[in-house]
Amino acid sequence: MPCGRLCSEALGLVIQVTAHGWGPTYIQPMSTTSDRAAWIQGNSARCEVTPEGALVQWGLILLGAPGVGKGTQAELLNRRLRACHLSTGDVFRAAGSRPDCEQSPAIKEALAYMRRGELVPDSTVWKMIRERSGCLHCRGGFILDGFPRTLGQAESLKELMESEGLKLTAVVNYTLPFNEIVARLAGRRTCEKCKSVYHVTERPSKIGGKCDHCEGKLFLREDDRPESITVRLEAYERSTAPLIEFYKKLGLLVEVAAQGSPDEIFESTFTQLESRRVREVAHKALVAQEDRQ
Ligand code: AP5
Repeated sequence: MPCGRLCSEALGLVIQVTAHGWGPTYIQPMSTTSDRAAWIQGNSARCEVTPEGALVQWGLILLGAPGVGKGTQAELLNRRLRACHLSTGDVFRAAGSRPDCEQSPAIKEALAYMRRGELVPDSTVWKMIRERSGCLHCRGGFILDGFPRTLGQAESLKELMESEGLKLTAVVNYTLPFNEIVARLAGRRTCEKCKSVYHVTERPSKIGGKCDHCEGKLFLREDDRPESITVRLEAYERSTAPLIEFYKKLGLLVEVAAQGSPDEIFESTFTQLESRRVREVAHKALVAQEDRQ
């Protein structure tokens, strides 16, 4: 048995759950580009739906405070770019939705950190990432959402990617005033069944308290309660905000204001990513031409 699987089983992070489209409600259903089974369930699983056709392999990281809209944008980017949405929070939440008797002490400990709004220890997060590192080789590329979150995680990811011959295309940093972040978090409601995301005023469901897609009950995430929100925002400032400088120094940072509708923010993100990519392709062509001369 490969070591990754052993580590993951020890952590209780090999999850036997079905991966859903976790898309926000306001996006018209489109063809799924990947079922995320390998990401959500770990090494024991394979994605049955994988991206097809000629694809650019994107390597993206989404940065930004909790509630800024990273998950929402990751879904929109996935639909346009075909890159797989890899959210660490989704993996922990899926593990937490297993019956109590099936949760290992390590996962119970991780969920307790989450409930309080604190970061899960780097060692636990890193074991989970190692076991899923195959997802970084997905045909359409990847969009990391919620990872890395500390300088230690960022350094480990950099080493892993270098050793596996992978490259980041860009790191998108979403910014939003504090009061709007709090309003987005406090108003978020999630479907207990399909995990679709709503907002009580911005994106309410059509049927009060129930999901428009599957009629599942909508709930307030435990870490979206006011006391946890404060802790999460402090953890972000202390541990994650320094990553902005880290990726700026590597020349990878793309800044996007997260105000406006999700579609507007998406267009702004996509335009910047595309022009970056076009510049890079042109640069490579120029270097190749110079080498030939
Ligand atoms: P995680 O699941 O990653 O949560 P997060 O980073 O706190 O981000 P959120 O999911 O809360 O917000 P989001 O930015 O994705 O916003 P969303 O699109 O939903 O992590 C949870 C926990 O897991 C952590 O606290 C930690 O304990 C643990 N963890 C995970 N990864 C870890 C790691 N690497 N290391 C250590 N611990 C880790 O949008 C929010 C709301 O706003 C929604 O209601 C949405 O409908 C609405 N909205 C979105 N966009 C707009 C818009 N443009 N206009 C109006 N409303 C909008």
